[in-house]
Amino acid sequence: MTENVLLVEDIPVDDSSPSGGVISIWTLNRPSKLNALNQESHAAIKEQCARAEAEDSIRVVMIRGAAPPPVEDGGRAKPAAFAAGADISEFAGKSSDDVRDFFANNAWEAVWNLSKPTIAMVDGFALGGGTELALACDIRVASSRAKFGQPEINLGLIPGGGGTQRLCRLLGYGKAMEMTLTGEMVGAEDALRLGLVNKVVEPKDLEDAAMQMAEVIARKSPYTVKVAKRAVRASLDLPFTEGVLAERSEFVALFDTEDKEIGVQAFLERGEAEWVGR
Ligand code: COA
Repeated sequence: MTENVLLVEDIPVDDSSPSGGVISIWTLNRPSKLNALNQESHAAIKEQCARAEAEDSIRVVMIRGAAPPPVEDGGRAKPAAFAAGADISEFAGKSSDDVRDFFANNAWEAVWNLSKPTIAMVDGFALGGGTELALACDIRVASSRAKFGQPEINLGLIPGGGGTQRLCRLLGYGKAMEMTLTGEMVGAEDALRLGLVNKVVEPKDLEDAAMQMAEVIARKSPYTVKVAKRAVRASLDLPFTEGVLAERSEFVALFDTEDKEIGVQAFLERGEAEWVGR
């Protein structure tokens, strides 16, 4: 029997408008291997990305790692993990020709390319491809025992899921270089200080904190949320002045949407906006 490497649960959002909104929670489910991402994990994430893009009900995607399995008799407890990287056992004996096509169509880019907001909920280790998966999300909420790192250098490799580029954009050149060259881990408080994560809470509060943030976003107009994400994302690729122009063009276009009028009227009448998503 093949293991179910990605558990998927759609949690209804109270008071979403249009009604029927859900937060889709994807749990990386290889806890005995610290949720390391193997080929099946990539395929399952890509499949869910296609579903998230196609289904209007999905307002926010959250990605997390399964909790450690129970300790077996005489066994050693496994640590908490978001994902301890790509599955290293799949690297042994492979040549560039063996891996090129697989890495050209990977889960990190599938998550990054989603038009809907994504949140990584990180408890424990997020290393290598795990840090890269968290970086491919829009927002990261971490527990105080989260640890990030790009240890690929220790394997004679470098990050291959966009880590060098996304780390540099998020943390700046010096820190991205340090993490990539030393392979050393960064704890949760340092990650917060560096801007690598948006929020750090105690492990017991992690799910509530991440869900709370997801629910706030899921109650906005799904149409406006996509435009907002697109506008912020444009800043990564465009020179500053072009980016400001791109934002203005998106902003002006929103004046033709029903949700702009709904939001403005709700404010003026001190009511709640009932979004229609267009
Ligand atoms: N790929 C495949 N298997 C992995 C893995 C990975 N990236 N990370 C951990 N595992 C497996 C271990 O082989 C071990 O399996 P086993 O129990 O069947 O032997 C299990 O997960 C638990 O890991 P273990 O190393 O025993 O836990 P630990 O608490 O001693 O150490 C880490 C935790 C995260 C420090 C250590 O697992 C580690 O360094 N992992 C690799 C991180 C890495 O280099 N990632 C980048 C990959 S490109």
